[in-house]
Amino acid sequence: MKHKIAVLAGDGIGPEVMDASLKVLDRAAESFGFSVEYRRALIGGAAIDERGRALPEESIDICRSCDAVLLGSVGGPKWDKLPADQRPERAGLLALRKELSLYANLRPVRVYPAIRELSPLKNELLEGGVDLLTVRELSSGIYFSEPKAHNSDEGYDTMRYRRPTVQRIAETAFDLARQRRGRLTSVDKSNVLYSSILWRETVEEVSRNYPDVELEHMYVDNAAMQMIINPGRFDVILTGNLFGDILSDESAALPGSLGLLPSASLGPKQHLYEPSGGSAPDIAGKGVANPLAQILSIAMMCDYSLEQKEAARAIYRAVERSIEKRVLSADLLRRGKASSTEKVAEAVALEI
Ligand code: IPM
Ligand code: MN
Repeated sequence: MKHKIAVLAGDGIGPEVMDASLKVLDRAAESFGFSVEYRRALIGGAAIDERGRALPEESIDICRSCDAVLLGSVGGPKWDKLPADQRPERAGLLALRKELSLYANLRPVRVYPAIRELSPLKNELLEGGVDLLTVRELSSGIYFSEPKAHNSDEGYDTMRYRRPTVQRIAETAFDLARQRRGRLTSVDKSNVLYSSILWRETVEEVSRNYPDVELEHMYVDNAAMQMIINPGRFDVILTGNLFGDILSDESAALPGSLGLLPSASLGPKQHLYEPSGGSAPDIAGKGVANPLAQILSIAMMCDYSLEQKEAARAIYRAVERSIEKRVLSADLLRRGKASSTEKVAEAVALEI
């Protein structure tokens, strides 16, 4: 079995982290008897420098020709002076999300026991472990609905959800909950917002097809609080675009480093996998960035796009073991000797 993967390393730490992480995928492919072909493409600042735009047509074509898209990170100070609609984040990443019609953003967060001292939360709040997955609607809601406008007098946006959009994301979340601990928390603001009333009704309706999944509803303000005082209570959190943007960043604080957090964005065809953190221009080129978020994104890709579930499990386990052996990059260490990007990736590869 040969899988074609679009590789868009992007800017900042993107390229060095990507190169190190692909060695883990090579190793997994070898161990589990499949092969991978990488099709490299430009995105972000790197694409602006070489082709004059953040998402060249040929990059989109390459993504569409592949089974999955693996992204590094985009953006940096060099391109911050450009007009907002030409900058790498918007003209590169947001544009690619749109091109591929990505609608479900999955952001899993785990607090690894071996490094739980990094969490800003007290030990007692982490008892029983933290392992949650935010499923954020990515294609609609207040980010995209019309009317929206801005003039010297007023600025406004519209939070609008249509039933099929909610149905689709709810089904994704229920399917995922079923493969995990079978608990789903749907987060809304239905005591105030009509779009949330529709959201809640639709999620209820979808839940009838998933009697094995335990559903609860929670207001977003309460969810933000529960995330801190009792993060272990969550399994899958299902929510809209804006609430998901905020809650997933809040959840990202729990393990103590962004360098651990992968993400997947699912669409009708190719899915996209990327670390949740940014391009970290301050440490780019030094070989010290944490590759684990990229490596875990590769594991998610094996899981959701390549149907290589065994390889995915092996990568998750290998990451866990290399953390336990304390092969750690600087962001995961309070004291002691930090390992380079390459050394961390090599240690994970060896565990497979
Ligand atoms: C994210 C980011 C983006 C978003 C920004 C950069 C547009 O915050 O991926 O969460 O809000 O979706
Ligand atoms: Mn965000």
